[in-house]
Amino acid sequence: MINNLSASTRDNRLNNRVALILGAGTSAPGVSIGKACSIAMARSGARVAALDFNMDAARETVQDIVNEGGHATAYQADVANLDQMQSAIDAVMADYGRIDILQINAGIGKVGGPVETSLEDWERIQKVNVESILIAAKLIIPVMVRQGGGSVIGVSSVAGIRYLGYPHLAYGVTKAAVIHFIRMLAQQYAGDGIRANTIVPGLIDTPRIHKNVAKVFDPNADLDRARAARDRQVPMGRMGTAWEIASVATFLASDDASYVTGTEIVVDGGLTGKFV
Ligand SMILES: NC(=O)c1ccc[n+]([C@@H]2O[C@H](COP(=O)([O-])OP(=O)(O)OC[C@H]3O[C@@H](n4cnc5c(N)ncnc54)[C@H](O)[C@@H]3O)[C@@H](O)[C@H]2O)c1
Repeated sequence: MINNLSASTRDNRLNNRVALILGAGTSAPGVSIGKACSIAMARSGARVAALDFNMDAARETVQDIVNEGGHATAYQADVANLDQMQSAIDAVMADYGRIDILQINAGIGKVGGPVETSLEDWERIQKVNVESILIAAKLIIPVMVRQGGGSVIGVSSVAGIRYLGYPHLAYGVTKAAVIHFIRMLAQQYAGDGIRANTIVPGLIDTPRIHKNVAKVFDPNADLDRARAARDRQVPMGRMGTAWEIASVATFLASDDASYVTGTEIVVDGGLTGKFV
C-alpha cells in the first residue's frame, strides 16, 4: 500500500518542537518533498517554520498546515545567502525561541556533463545544494547546542551515489557532498545531543520533474511518457511520492530515531540495489 500520509496518521511525536524546513514550498503546482515534510511534521505536532525564496510557495505550505489545524509561519530567504538566512533565522528565533529540527531540503540541478556545464551553473548549484548546509549549520548548530540537542536532516539523491543513465554532473556531485557534510556534522556534534542524517530519495513524483527532467525521459518532454519511463526504472514499478519521503523525515526528526545518527536512509523502491 502506498503511504500517502492521510489525516489518520496524526500523532504527537513532535509536540513542543519547532521544525525549520528550508525549501518548504513547491516549484510548480503539486506536492514537493519540502511541502510534504512540512505538513507531515505539523501533523505530528511540530510548529513549522516554512522557509523558501519563493514567499508565495512558503505561504501556500503554511496555509495547508493551518487549514488542517496545525501551526506554521512562512519565512523568505535564499538558502545560499548568509545575510538573508541570518535575518530569517533571527525572525524564527524571535517568533519561536528555538529550533529543534532542521531539514535542508532546497535543491537545484541542471542536466549536463563537464563540457555542457557552465562555471556559473556549477557555482550556483554548489551554492544552493552545499554552501546552504554550511550557512544553515553556522547559524543553527549553536542554537541546538544551547538547547541541548536537535535533529538535522539533509536531502541528497540517488544521483549522489549512482550514475542514473544521463549526465547530471553538478547535481550528482553536490548531492554526494550533502551525504559527507552531514556525516561529519553528526560526528562532531554527537556529544551535544544533535543527530544528523541524510535522506537519499530515489525517483520521486514531484513537480520539479515536470519542469526539469521530463525531457531526459522523453524526447518531447511528454509528461505522461516521462512519468511512465521513470516508473519502469524502479524495481517496485513506480516512482515514490513526496509523502513517502516525509514519513522518513518525520521518523528521523522524532525520538523514534533517538539512536540514529551519522547515516543515510535510501528511499528508492529498490532502485540503487538493481544491476541494470
Ligand atoms: N523529486 C525527485 O525525484 C528528487 C529525487 C531525489 C532528491 N530530490 C531532492 O529533494 C529536494 C526537494 O526536491 P523537490 O522535487 O521537492 O523540489 P521542488 O523544486 O519542487 O521544491 C524545492 C523548493 O525549494 C525552493 N528553493 C529552491 N532554491 C532555493 C533557494 N536558493 N533558497 C530557498 N528556497 C529554494 C523552491 O522554491 C521550491 O519551493 C531537493 O533537494 C532535490 O534535489 C528530489
